[in-house]
Amino acid sequence: MKTSLVLTVVALFLISFNVKDHVVTLTEEYGSTGDEQRAFVGADKCKPCHMSEKKGAQYKSWKESKHAGAFATLATDKAKELGAKVGVTNPQEDAKCLKCHIDGFGVDAKFLGEKYKKEDGVGCESCHGAGGDYWTKQVMTDISTKKIDGATVGLVKPVEETCKKCHNEESPTFAGFNFEEMHKKIAHPMPK
Ligand code: HEC
Ligand code: HEC
Ligand code: HEC
Ligand code: HEC
Repeated sequence: MKTSLVLTVVALFLISFNVKDHVVTLTEEYGSTGDEQRAFVGADKCKPCHMSEKKGAQYKSWKESKHAGAFATLATDKAKELGAKVGVTNPQEDAKCLKCHIDGFGVDAKFLGEKYKKEDGVGCESCHGAGGDYWTKQVMTDISTKKIDGATVGLVKPVEETCKKCHNEESPTFAGFNFEEMHKKIAHPMPK
């Protein structure tokens, strides 16, 4: 009885906040292990801490990769041609194309942070998971020192399956996917 009262109060407390506050609350407590949707914060949120050469310049490596241009690609003549074949008039606005060419496709707008933008194309969070609960310095440090398991706050360690969510036959330009080769092309390790 007492427990359910406490739970009700906690629930009302959470509901009374908007999503951004809710995410902050979770972050402060290192996230929950529930499978609630986490917010996509956008690659610009990762940039300040992941751009120095000393730390591996992951942001720069990503920015120079094709992934960062995946939304822009949907405006090209080639995209329009491919789209026309499946009845798509504007690939930049059609779910049939966007689902693999941007972060957080189909996610409710309230889970898209203020720095999120579809122009980022396939951003960090397409592979590493929505960052709403892990992007802060405290959480990132605690993950890297193994104080907490990144998975509990939504950080994904990308594997071959992560790539194959998009690199598969459903892509109109698919011509096979060799994980080792493709991984090398986008590698952005932290210096040991
Ligand atoms: C406030 C700074 C900060 C921000 C913002 C930040 N990170 Fe980090 N991140 C770190 C630090 C510090 C480490 C640990 C680096 C080390 O071990 O030297 C880290 C480690 C990581 C790791 C490796 C984790 C592991 O398993 O050890 C990944 C992946 C990562 N960050 C992805 C991201 C992504 C994606 C974003 C944006 C959504 C992001 N980070 C935003 C500071 C940050
Ligand atoms: C299942 C995921 C997926 C879907 C759906 C998808 N794409 Fe892609 N797209 C990819 C991937 C992955 C690549 C990289 C090349 C490859 O393996 O196909 C790509 C590459 C491209 C390219 C660049 C090709 C090149 O040779 O430079 C264009 C243009 C493109 N897609 C347009 C579209 C259009 C238009 C649609 C919608 C009709 C679409 N894509 C739907 C995943 C997808
Ligand atoms: C296309 C997928 C993809 C995208 C996009 C991507 N990453 Fe990664 N990232 C990976 C893979 C794969 C690894 C290697 C994981 C491993 O070592 O097991 C990795 C590793 C990392 C690491 C850890 C490196 C280490 O040596 O431990 C950091 C930090 C990182 N990524 C940050 C970022 C940031 C920041 C962005 C965006 C600016 C980003 N990644 C975008 C797939 C991606
Ligand atoms: C959310 C969907 C998505 C995920 C997940 C994803 N990719 Fe991609 N990838 C794309 C799209 C779309 C393109 C084409 C971008 C363009 O040309 O504009 C692409 C292009 C690439 C390219 C450039 C292809 C070339 O011919 O140069 C490489 C390499 C690549 N991806 C590797 C990976 C790897 C490795 C992973 C997993 C760690 C991965 N991708 C995960 C969607 C994705």
